[in-house]
Amino acid sequence: MIMAEAFRLGIAGLGTVGVGVVKNIQQHGDLLAARCGRRVEITTVSARDSSKDRGVDLSAYDWVDNAEDLANSNSIDCVVEMIGGSEGLALNLVRNSLSKGKHVITANKALLAHHGAELAKLAEDNNVSLAYEAAIAGGVPIVKALREGFAGNDVQAVFGILNGTSNYMMTAMRETGRDFDEILKEAQDLGYAEADPSFDVDGDDAGHKLALLAAIAFGTKPDFKSLEMTGIRGVTAVDIAFATELGYKIKLLGIARRVNGKIMQSIQPCLVPENSKIGRVDGVFNAVQVEGDYVGSGLIVGRGAGEGPTASSVMSDVIDLARGINVPTFGIPANDLKDPEWIDQGETVSGYYLRLDVLDQPGVIADVSAVLRDHNVSIESFIQHGRDPDQSVALVMTTHEAKQADIKAACDAIQTLNSVNAEPCLMRIEPLE
Ligand SMILES: NC(=O)c1ccc[n+]([C@@H]2O[C@H](COP(=O)([O-])OP(=O)(O)OC[C@H]3O[C@@H](n4cnc5c(N)ncnc54)[C@H](OP(=O)(O)O)[C@@H]3O)[C@@H](O)[C@H]2O)c1
Repeated sequence: MIMAEAFRLGIAGLGTVGVGVVKNIQQHGDLLAARCGRRVEITTVSARDSSKDRGVDLSAYDWVDNAEDLANSNSIDCVVEMIGGSEGLALNLVRNSLSKGKHVITANKALLAHHGAELAKLAEDNNVSLAYEAAIAGGVPIVKALREGFAGNDVQAVFGILNGTSNYMMTAMRETGRDFDEILKEAQDLGYAEADPSFDVDGDDAGHKLALLAAIAFGTKPDFKSLEMTGIRGVTAVDIAFATELGYKIKLLGIARRVNGKIMQSIQPCLVPENSKIGRVDGVFNAVQVEGDYVGSGLIVGRGAGEGPTASSVMSDVIDLARGINVPTFGIPANDLKDPEWIDQGETVSGYYLRLDVLDQPGVIADVSAVLRDHNVSIESFIQHGRDPDQSVALVMTTHEAKQADIKAACDAIQTLNSVNAEPCLMRIEPLE
């Protein structure tokens, strides 16, 4: 059999993901050739330190010190950007590579969340692809599922657990009863959390991924800046224990949903029923659920990070491009991507979990109930354990559906009551199946 010419890659960045890609190509050369109808070859690699032992043999490849040189190379069909960062080198490399007519594969969600619309247009103008399966939920093939597998659906919602570190921490806090700081330290020791964990625990990482999912689902430009984002730092062991008592788990959820023709997009810790599909996804796993008018609901679960899972997704892009498959970056031509019309978050409606730190005095519940009533919020249930007139106690309520603006105004008013000691803790309840 005569095979087409090899598909030639230049890899920029030889860290966790870049090395995983090199290993896969070295190990699966014949398998890839059979699947693509041509061989996949690495011609050139680049990273900061050419002397570093990376545990793989790089001697067969050209080395360039300046990754930007890959964009100008005549021996590369596709640049694989595995450096990271939304600006600087990664952005220049991707821009220049696309402009020079090279396909680009990236795992860089930050880059695409900030510059996705511009880069998608650049790719189309130059008749090349910008592929990014590994950028959303690592080894979970959600880009292909949402953009291609579910393409016959009018998608109403896409949501899920998009950050493995946060999910690991929420799971460990529930299982051990320990608080955020202790579990964070443990996650750092185990290598699940970075020394600076803010990207993971404050929601940015999940937010980058959600901005991309929303773009594919709704044909809109990725818009990270308009995202409402709350991370998990405010979730305490006490909240997790109460959620458990109520039959819920707390998950950092990314939600993009169409409501009355507008789009809501948010990252926040939410209570989900413990036996719901998403509720059962624990540990470092990621899960993305898609709701479409024909498919109903589809869920994909898998490992959201790590060398193997992330390289697996990069390779899916490599194989597509080597096969000559070219799909618009966000599912429709870049020129047709619309500016999203966001819903006013205050108008969104949901049930809520509300925990108050109150003095255990007669009349407190009546005062709090009156404030909620005055703000159109009705209580579904409440829990208070123990009695100690000298100390503050936790008073936990769940509410029926209420407007976010109403319950936030109620919380502001509750905080001014003499019997309330601290800022109320408020979380959405997502009634998932
Ligand atoms: N790790 C994961 O599980 C995962 C999952 C999904 C997506 N991603 C995304 O994949 C990308 C890569 O992540 P990673 O975890 O593999 O990162 P990493 O382990 O930190 O590796 C980054 C690589 O980029 C190189 N690099 C950094 N600055 C450079 C510069 N100025 N010039 C040339 N090379 C430079 C580094 O070179 P040296 O090695 O010489 O220092 C290193 O090889 C990021 O966009 C990340 O968000 C990662």
